[in-house]
Amino acid sequence: MGGDDSGGGNRTYADYLNLHELLSLQGDESLTNDELHFVIVHQSFELWFKLIISELRAVRDILDQSLVPEADIPKAVHHMERVTEIFRLMANQWKVMETLTPQDFLAFRDGLGTASGFESFQMRELEIILGLDDADRVSEMDPLAHFRKLAQGSERDKGILAQLEGAAEATSLAAAVNRWLLRTPIQGSMVGDADDEQVVQEFIEEYLAGQDSLSEAAMARLREQGVQDMSTVEERFTIAAEGARDYLMPDGVVNRARAGLLFIESYRELPLLAWPRTLIDAVVALEEAMLLWRTSHARMVERIIGRRIGTGGSSGVDYLDMTTRYRIFVDLWAVRTLLMKKEALPNLRQPNFYGFAGES
Ligand code: HEM
Repeated sequence: MGGDDSGGGNRTYADYLNLHELLSLQGDESLTNDELHFVIVHQSFELWFKLIISELRAVRDILDQSLVPEADIPKAVHHMERVTEIFRLMANQWKVMETLTPQDFLAFRDGLGTASGFESFQMRELEIILGLDDADRVSEMDPLAHFRKLAQGSERDKGILAQLEGAAEATSLAAAVNRWLLRTPIQGSMVGDADDEQVVQEFIEEYLAGQDSLSEAAMARLREQGVQDMSTVEERFTIAAEGARDYLMPDGVVNRARAGLLFIESYRELPLLAWPRTLIDAVVALEEAMLLWRTSHARMVERIIGRRIGTGGSSGVDYLDMTTRYRIFVDLWAVRTLLMKKEALPNLRQPNFYGFAGES
C-alpha cells in the first residue's frame, strides 16, 4: 500500500481500504458502547468469513482438477493453513464478546428481534463449500429452509438463496478431497491398472489380518490380567474388527479412497507421500479449529445468556453444542481408529515407486 504503486495514483490509505464507507456501517450515534461493541465483533467475524470463503474456493478448485499437479498441493495446504489460523483467531475473538455482561446484553437484546447468527449466509456458504450435508445438520434447525422462506419476501434474499444453491451444486471440498484420495497409488498400483482391484483388496486383507493378530495379543493380555467380563471385551474387539472391514469394504466392495487414505497414513515416511499426508493433516487441523471455534462460541453464549432460547428460536446452547458434533471429513477422522504400529503393517511393495531408497 505504501510507496508509489502503479495505477494507484494518489490514493490514500482510506481510499484504498474504502475506510469511509466501512466506518459508516456500524449504526448511528445513538448506539451505546456495548451495542457498538456487539456490532463490531459481528462485523469482524463476517469479514473473516468472506476471506474464508474465498480461500476455501481456491483449495476446492485446486483439488477438483481431474489430475492434481503435485506442485499445486503445497498451494492448497497454504490456503488451508490460513483458514485454520483464522478459525483459531476467531475462537479467541469470543473473549472480546465475553466482556459484555449478561445484564448489558439484556439491555439491547430485545432490539435484535429474531435476528440471529443462525441467519449468517456466509457461515452457511462456507459450511456448504466444505461439504456439510443438509442431512447431517441438527434436525431441529434447517438454515436453508429458513433462507427459502426469506427468499419469498425480498429480492435480496432471493439472491442469497441462489448463491447458496449454487454453492450446493458445485463440488464440495470434502468431495474433491475424496476424489483426490481415490487416485492414491496403493502398493505401487494405480487406478486403471489391470490388477489394481486385486492389489488393493490384497492390501486390505493383509492389513485386517495384521489388526486381527494385534487384537488377539491384546485380548490375551487382558485375559492374563484376569479381566472379569472377558466376553464383553471379546465382543468389543469383534465389533471393532467388523467396523474396520466395513469401513474399507462397505457391503463387500472396496472403497478405494479410504484404502488410499489408510495407505498414506500408514506409510507416512515415504517421500512420495509427504505432501499428501501434509494435505490430510491440514484438512484435519482445519476441521478441528472450526469445531473448537464452535465450542468456544457455545461457551461464550452459555456465559452470557445461560440456557435461554436463542433469538433465532433454537434451544440456544444445547443447539450450539450439538453442532460441535458435526464431522464433515468423516473418513479422515474415522481412519485414525484403524491405524496400527509399523511392525504390524503389510510389507511395502515397490518401495522405489514411492521414492524410498530401501530394499525392494
Ligand atoms: C452476545 C453474543 C452472542 C450470543 C448470545 C449468541 C447466541 C447465539 C445463539 C443462541 C445461537 C443459536 C441460534 C439461535 O437460536 O439464535 C447462535 C448461532 C450463531 N451465532 Fe451467535 N451469539 C452471539 C454472538 C455471535 C457472534 C459475534 C457471531 C459472529 C458472527 C455469532 C455467530 C453465530 C453463528 C454463525 C450462528 C449459527 C451457528 C449454527 O447454526 O451452526 N454469534 N448464536
